[in-house]
Amino acid sequence: MKHLIDTNDLSNKQIDDILADAIKFKKSSPPPLLANKVMLTLFFEDSTRTRSSFEIAGKKLGMSVVHLNPSTSSTKKGETLQDTFENLCAMDPNTIVIRHSQNDIPSQLSALDLTPVINAGAGNYAHPTQAMLDYMTLKEHFGDIKGKTIAIVGDIVTSRVASSATRLLTRMGMNVIFVGPKEFLPPLSFTSDAMPQYESLDKIIENVDAVMSLRVQLERHETPVFKDYESYAKKYCITKDIIKDRDILILHPGPVMRNIDITDELLLDDRCKVLTQVKNGLYVRMAILKNLLLDS
Ligand code: ASP
Ligand code: CP
Repeated sequence: MKHLIDTNDLSNKQIDDILADAIKFKKSSPPPLLANKVMLTLFFEDSTRTRSSFEIAGKKLGMSVVHLNPSTSSTKKGETLQDTFENLCAMDPNTIVIRHSQNDIPSQLSALDLTPVINAGAGNYAHPTQAMLDYMTLKEHFGDIKGKTIAIVGDIVTSRVASSATRLLTRMGMNVIFVGPKEFLPPLSFTSDAMPQYESLDKIIENVDAVMSLRVQLERHETPVFKDYESYAKKYCITKDIIKDRDILILHPGPVMRNIDITDELLLDDRCKVLTQVKNGLYVRMAILKNLLLDS
């Protein structure tokens, strides 16, 4: 039984196969390869893109999709997460896609080996399908990403997107630079190798090929780090003034906080790939479902 908890679970061959399938599915719709299989989505944190994208991906492959909303489930009556999971598995779904605020919940549930578990974002550590769609978007634009440099800008220390992207993109040969205020820069243990860290984009903008802007993860801060985010935005919002006419790709996992993360003006720029990322996410998730449920 294969699970997807972190991109480190994927071999290089699996990553290549998933990318190749995602590109194929983007060109033309596949037949219902997963007909008669059931996907259950279980999101303990809010989501617009990941949940919809998994559910549409499953349906495009012929799966039936069941969503359990934890806030109207028997979790509210005090049932433990493990009991909830075991009861759901007793109904024989072919996979459970889970999002949770704690880093280790998807791996703990996968260790029970009751159904393939797919991590749709956990705590501040891993969001593997986001990393795969970011990788696809970068490869689609650059071809070979080896030796290219990406600056990840914003609240890095509480971002599972930054953490997952750093593991996958450095593995694929990209240079990763962290940019943010001291409060948002991670300790060196955040990734296995220390990434260069800067407090301002000005100093390094000449040397980057891509910028990944991140939302401030307010829901993960026990107390607000800044009194107001306008002064933060003055320094870290990605603007046309910073990017100028440079050939730089702009990424953001979403949800975008307009004019704090990226300006309205830059969101309309062709170099900004936010909606391309969302589109690629659909095909990457279709390819991941095929890889885990059919090919493995
Ligand atoms: N949607 C991404 C996540 O769930 C990023 C974000 O929420 O800022 O990690
Ligand atoms: N990028 C992302 O995970 O978006 P959602 O939180 O809306 O799923």
